[in-house]
Amino acid sequence: MTGPALQPSAKPVVLVVDDVQANRELLEGHLDQLGYEVRQARDGVEALDLVAAEEPDLVLLDIDMPRMDGITLCRRLKADPVRRLVPVVLITAHQDRATRLRGLEAGADDFLTKPFDSAELLVRTKSLLRDRELNKHLDAAEGVIMALARVIEARDAYTIHHAERVGLYSREIGLALGLAEADLDVLYKGGVMHDLGKVVIPAEILLKSGPLSATEREIMETHAPQGSRIAEPLRSAAKFLPVIRHHHERVDGRGYPDHLAGNEIPLAARIAAIGDSWDAMISDRPYRTALERDEALSRIRAGAGSQWDAEIIAIFVDLIDADVVERVAREQYRIEAPAG
Ligand SMILES: [Fe+2]
Ligand SMILES: [Fe+2]
Repeated sequence: MTGPALQPSAKPVVLVVDDVQANRELLEGHLDQLGYEVRQARDGVEALDLVAAEEPDLVLLDIDMPRMDGITLCRRLKADPVRRLVPVVLITAHQDRATRLRGLEAGADDFLTKPFDSAELLVRTKSLLRDRELNKHLDAAEGVIMALARVIEARDAYTIHHAERVGLYSREIGLALGLAEADLDVLYKGGVMHDLGKVVIPAEILLKSGPLSATEREIMETHAPQGSRIAEPLRSAAKFLPVIRHHHERVDGRGYPDHLAGNEIPLAARIAAIGDSWDAMISDRPYRTALERDEALSRIRAGAGSQWDAEIIAIFVDLIDADVVERVAREQYRIEAPAG
């Protein structure tokens, strides 16, 4: 490429990690021909530094290396919530089944066998890079929804940080339920997005001080279906739709918008409903000041089995007793507080 450019090179960046220089150069030669931008690292430690400086689109990883071996590096990359989307290919010397199993366990996306076959290298890298592009777009869609959720917060000064806390509380409940990391992520982000539909609620209703009239309440309640309508076209938002649409359902079937009852209400929505109500109770709102903690607690207990899922309420009350809920809220403020 010649001359200045507004954007960095669009060539996919491939990071080659191998302690043997000849191997790196051989791979670089192949990859260069295939049109990739190549970076080289001599071991896992160097690779981590490079990844931190510039996220590659693909990592080709030797297994036996000094300082940090390929399996450990792979595991480290796959444990990172952002980096885990970068495809990792482990280079194995031969059909070593035990190593492959260890690699799969560490989250490797594919394997290459030495000596390299140029045609095979092309096929493997191409399909992984295509997935990578797709992942990037999925990620971008999630980003759009998160940005929208921030818009709602900005419109409504009373709910600043409310959505964030609902996400954090939901995550803690999920953790206590023993859910997997991917589910905890859905609970957190779903919580942050739960009131997405409020973006279409007129400000005079959203910010009204004093109780809403029946008509205003009806309009307010459309935020649940409106939120899912807004998020629906974004494919990666599918996993958040249950929270967005159903966080105002009640286990006795008297909630909205679909009057679902008991376990018909998706688990994520039953969880978010509790964090949402708790946070609303203990915060000042345009129409009333915050409740005392004990008063909020007794309301939460009283609504177990009618408004909320009794088993999840029991877990949530334990989290309150163990100070987890308040710690999460405090820590959130610490993050928000400007340093110095
Ligand atoms: Fe809501
Ligand atoms: Fe809410």
